[in-house]
Amino acid sequence: MPNVLLLGGTTEASALAQALAEAQIPATLSYMGRVERPKAQPVPVRIGGFGGVAGLRDYIRQHAVTHVVDATHPFAAQMSTNAVNACADTGTPLIALTRPAWQPGPGDDWQRVADIPAAVAALAGPARHVMLAIGRMHIHEFAPQPHHRYLLRLVDEPKETPPLPDHVVVVDRGPFSTQADIALMRAHKIDLVVSKNAGGTGSVSKLEAARALGLPVLMIDRPSLPPRHDVHAIAEVLTWLKA
Ligand SMILES: NC(=O)c1ccc[n+]([C@@H]2O[C@H](COP(=O)([O-])OP(=O)(O)OC[C@H]3O[C@@H](n4cnc5c(N)ncnc54)[C@H](OP(=O)(O)O)[C@@H]3O)[C@@H](O)[C@H]2O)c1
Repeated sequence: MPNVLLLGGTTEASALAQALAEAQIPATLSYMGRVERPKAQPVPVRIGGFGGVAGLRDYIRQHAVTHVVDATHPFAAQMSTNAVNACADTGTPLIALTRPAWQPGPGDDWQRVADIPAAVAALAGPARHVMLAIGRMHIHEFAPQPHHRYLLRLVDEPKETPPLPDHVVVVDRGPFSTQADIALMRAHKIDLVVSKNAGGTGSVSKLEAARALGLPVLMIDRPSLPPRHDVHAIAEVLTWLKA
């Protein structure tokens, strides 16, 4: 019988947890624990970092984990790299459940940048009304561009005031709709959207809204990761587990 460690923190991980519970495959869902009030889950949950690669190796051994599924966010590069290394060290099969990256389509006006520092650099220039839709973690990195008005959409109320003199916080964990995002962008007179290339459907509405309003998007590319077995569908994870 498998004993799955599911690295989560995403909509996809929660959906996989549900599928594993329904298939009666024993699994533990792991969160970093940054979000307050995490969603109730149908499988046991553990919370907190493992303590790097060595900690994850210990966890895998101590809990007799047979399979690791990495369903973390595509920007959680440290966790994903640790999982590749700890699984290699312990001989534990690893699969990643990922979302294909978003691609620009007709009507999109994207400027792609390699990472967050490049996005910050690209914001030099005249003051704008910027929707900074990148989560809480990296907001402080935009402090060198204080002259914009920033709209920050966050899952939780920030504990510290963001270091951006002119900002508005909207607390919402979604799911979001295109119509609501169009209304939000209009209400805040947004003229630029900054986004990570997260992929998936959970937060694509801001891109659809930007397209509908003819707004440019500064799109931050994903970090690179070590090679690993990567699938996009829950059914493929279940097939892999049963093989
Ligand atoms: N980055 C994003 O944009 C984003 C967006 C939505 C959700 N998330 C979720 O938020 C979490 C943290 O993201 P991040 O970008 O800060 O990750 P990260 O930089 O790759 O991870 C930093 C450290 O946090 C711990 N960690 C991360 N994910 C964990 C998990 N699922 N279970 C246990 N420990 C975990 C690990 O600590 P140790 O080294 O001590 O094990 C890891 O080394 C992830 O679970 C991710 O799926 C991230």
